[in-house]
Amino acid sequence: MLPSSLWALVASVVLSLPLIPAQSTQTSLSFDTLVTLTGNNFSTTSTPVLFSLPSSSAITISLALCAAASSNPPRVLVSNSTDSQVPPDSSGGPDVYEVMISSLGLGNLTLEFPENAVGVLAVYGGTTSDSLEIGISQDEPLHAPLADLPFFGDSTANEALLFSPPFLPPPSIPKPTYPNYTLPLANTSLPSPPEPASSPNLTLFLAPLDTELSALPQTACAIRSRVTSDTRAAQSALVLEEQPWLRDASGWRREWLVGRLEPLANYSVYAIQDGTRLSGPIYFTTKSASFSCQLVHALPYCPTTAYAVPLPEPPDTAPAYDASNLPTSLATPLLGYLTNFTTSLLTTACGRDAYSPLQTCADCQAAYRRWLCAVSFPRCSEWPGTGQGQQGTFSVPPPPALLPQPSGMPQRNAAMGNSSANWTALLPCIETCYATDRACPVWLGFRCPRPKTTANESYGLGFIDSQDGEEPGGGVPGAAQDRWGNVFCNGS
Ligand SMILES: *[C@@H]1O[C@H](CO)[C@@H](O)[C@H](O)[C@H]1NC(C)=O
Ligand SMILES: *[C@@H]1O[C@H](CO)[C@@H](O)[C@H](O)[C@H]1NC(C)=O
Ligand SMILES: *[C@@H]1O[C@H](CO)[C@@H](O)[C@H](O)[C@H]1NC(C)=O
Ligand SMILES: *[C@@H]1O[C@H](CO)[C@@H](O)[C@H](O)[C@H]1NC(C)=O
Ligand SMILES: *[C@@H]1O[C@H](CO)[C@@H](O)[C@H](O)[C@H]1NC(C)=O
Ligand SMILES: *[C@@H]1O[C@H](CO)[C@@H](O)[C@H](O)[C@H]1NC(C)=O
Ligand SMILES: *[C@@H]1O[C@H](CO)[C@@H](O)[C@H](O)[C@H]1NC(C)=O
Ligand SMILES: *[C@@H]1O[C@H](CO)[C@@H](O)[C@H](O)[C@H]1NC(C)=O
Ligand SMILES: *[C@@H]1O[C@H](CO)[C@@H](O)[C@H](O)[C@H]1NC(C)=O
Ligand SMILES: *[C@@H]1O[C@H](CO)[C@@H](O)[C@H](O)[C@H]1NC(C)=O
Ligand SMILES: *[C@@H]1O[C@H](CO)[C@@H](O)[C@H](O)[C@H]1NC(C)=O
Repeated sequence: MLPSSLWALVASVVLSLPLIPAQSTQTSLSFDTLVTLTGNNFSTTSTPVLFSLPSSSAITISLALCAAASSNPPRVLVSNSTDSQVPPDSSGGPDVYEVMISSLGLGNLTLEFPENAVGVLAVYGGTTSDSLEIGISQDEPLHAPLADLPFFGDSTANEALLFSPPFLPPPSIPKPTYPNYTLPLANTSLPSPPEPASSPNLTLFLAPLDTELSALPQTACAIRSRVTSDTRAAQSALVLEEQPWLRDASGWRREWLVGRLEPLANYSVYAIQDGTRLSGPIYFTTKSASFSCQLVHALPYCPTTAYAVPLPEPPDTAPAYDASNLPTSLATPLLGYLTNFTTSLLTTACGRDAYSPLQTCADCQAAYRRWLCAVSFPRCSEWPGTGQGQQGTFSVPPPPALLPQPSGMPQRNAAMGNSSANWTALLPCIETCYATDRACPVWLGFRCPRPKTTANESYGLGFIDSQDGEEPGGGVPGAAQDRWGNVFCNGS
């Protein structure tokens, strides 16, 4: 097929224009308001369904299919002609452009409108099984995929922690300077979350793999309708808690704690921003019914901690641990170590004699906090199951850094007591240790085990960086976890 611009040119020269009488009932489209055509909204004759466009020098039209296209799918033509009597003809015409719909089910087109143009949008075709969403805007198309993916925290047998893609960069906190070199308190709090009015509206959609959310079309309205119209999908999860969360430097995300999941099931996950922008899918699997660890999340002093920890069930039937119900026998020593570490660190000439051209005391404290949280809260996991779909891009994914923790064994974090049940630890990625080693002054004595000897007893090696740590990102697969639900080491 010719590009729409060429097509318009050819059409204007070659085709004679059949004059379709302008329909008397033209609906007006307005900016940033979506219109959905379904079922009997489509024209059953060769006469198109017509919409008038507001007057503006440029309009961006965007489309999303909300259901798989039928054999007579809807086609959208737009005219920016100055002749109001000529609605866009289905075979082209002067100043007539078709909004092409991609295989994902999305289409967009920006047109300029001369001062006296009469903008008309015509929808041809479509059957009762089709569903089309139309939006117009003055700048970016309303329908567009989001570049970033949601993030999987962790799961238990019937709960999961999930994060939206980041939507706002973290606030810039002024770097401390000499002579007032102040570092954040150990028990720090998150900066105040962005105003709801200035944050996008993010909604979570997930369903078991076999409800086929990842079929085409991949548009926000299609995912929403598949989840809401299928009782099994609609009831497959329940958001128990949600909040804005600043996990790391990638920025503010929405965090969801979901419940009502089935054990040992593979789920597909999407986040939808402002009703039209789709992010995903990512996949995750739930643990087996006998998995006994509990989710810990929303700790302002350990902002990246969002995973299962070997703890008894939280008090008062709470769905998970957070800062309000985490045992003080865990929180107090952790904050004590961090406070004492910070005190030692501040005896360095912070902000005066740089111990490194790249790193500051603030970087050292932040890296140590992340490492301390990762080793203080051991992460539980399970050997990956079999027969739950292919394993993403691997024929056989690399085995995760799992280490069995037989009951009665003393734990790495003494405050956790000896383990009371048999569980399997997912070791922290060694890069968290190296990052602290690099960021802190040598005389503080922070050291990581050597890769060729015992490092693999306490850390996951060779997943993010190469096995010897020489090549950043050179590990297999080059990350702590992937979008297919494989988690290789604890990257929190
Ligand atoms: C589509 O049809 C429904 C009822 O069948 C009607 O309420 C709605 O306004 C129609 N939408 C458009 C855009 O014409
Ligand atoms: C219609 O829009 C196209 C693309 O923006 C532009 O090239 C063309 O000049 C416009 N037609 C008129 C009559 O302005
Ligand atoms: C708009 O459509 C073009 C193809 O016509 C496509 O390359 C582009 O990615 C689309 N833009 C968005 C934001 O979807
Ligand atoms: C030192 O800095 C902290 C935070 O940056 C600030 O709250 C405090 O008021 C400052 N103290 C002095 C004496 O300037
Ligand atoms: C966010 O989107 C959901 C679903 O699209 C809607 O129900 C809700 O009212 C929206 N909230 C706000 C604040 O816009
Ligand atoms: C951390 O500080 C908050 C108040 O900012 C307090 O409510 C909480 O008890 C403190 N946590 C610990 C473990 O000391
Ligand atoms: C922190 O230092 C104080 C004073 O040196 C000490 O009493 C305390 O035990 C230390 N806390 C931890 C958790 O090591
Ligand atoms: C979950 O399903 C997806 C899609 O089939 C697959 O690529 C992925 O490997 C599965 N994940 C696991 C952990 O089985
Ligand atoms: C934990 O295990 C160690 C070594 O096996 C043992 O000496 C210690 O008494 C145990 N502590 C508790 C509280 O069971
Ligand atoms: C842990 O596993 C061992 C060996 O399989 C078993 O003997 C023991 O009873 C288990 N302990 C618990 C608390 O389940
Ligand atoms: C660690 O690596 C050594 C040598 O490569 C190997 O013999 C040992 O089994 C590994 N230990 C673990 C827990 O993977």
